[in-house]
Amino acid sequence: MRKSASIGIFDSGIGGLSVLREVAALLPHERACYVADTAYCPYGLRPADEVRKRSQSIVRFLLDKSCKLVVVACNTATTAAIDELRRVFPDIPFVGMEPAVKPAAKQSKTRIVGVLATAGTLQSPLFKQSKARHAAGVKLHVVAGNGLVELVEQGREDSPEALALLRTYLQPMLDDNVDELVLGCTHYPFLTDGIEKITQGRMVIVNPAPAVAAQVKRLLEQYNLLNDETTTQPFYEFFATGSVDALAKLQKRHLPMLSGRYSHEKLRIKG
Ligand code: DGL
Repeated sequence: MRKSASIGIFDSGIGGLSVLREVAALLPHERACYVADTAYCPYGLRPADEVRKRSQSIVRFLLDKSCKLVVVACNTATTAAIDELRRVFPDIPFVGMEPAVKPAAKQSKTRIVGVLATAGTLQSPLFKQSKARHAAGVKLHVVAGNGLVELVEQGREDSPEALALLRTYLQPMLDDNVDELVLGCTHYPFLTDGIEKITQGRMVIVNPAPAVAAQVKRLLEQYNLLNDETTTQPFYEFFATGSVDALAKLQKRHLPMLSGRYSHEKLRIKG
């Protein structure tokens, strides 16, 4: 595998940009190839089997693009598909997302931790395992954030509707004395302003994306795959299975630091 190859990243939509943002900040010399499966977004309400099929087809595309590592920048796809992806593609390192229950449980003073994630993630065996393993001694206040992904995809993350919906999910957590809030969906970091407005400093927001970027760096080091071409600026390729214009607009809004070193293209993947 080439050191100068791209890191592959995918999500059901633009949520994975919250992960790419951290990867690009930590590894400024790495190229990336991002797939937003917007024609199938949201994944959170789809059967796990369908999410597994989409994930496999997208990974095949990323491998055709010679990616050297794949980040499953979607909690829902990670819980549904990462075991199968590792089995089907044993030669490629994968990094997945998991709600950060462990650090939140460690840090919580009230011993009550909030988890906001998609219905798919919350129903998955992987989440049940992680609850059993990491949440002993704390109470988890778990809420499915139905409707939030759609608002972020529409660029309405700061709208009155988003704020009202967030309030219905967060007020019961505030009433319950939650002091750590785990963002279990990669779309939710784009709702941070609204979350802060509602929680007023009473909850620490736990976003796993920086830890995921650190894991990407560790794996690239371990496999001797860090890009050693450090003089030219890297290029970022963005693909959307839905509207390319929508992806381009949201990418420029959420990742302004990439400043022109990118392309946007329509992607058709069956299955
Ligand atoms: N961003 C995704 C996640 O982390 C998927 C949300 C969805 O498509 O429902 O779960």
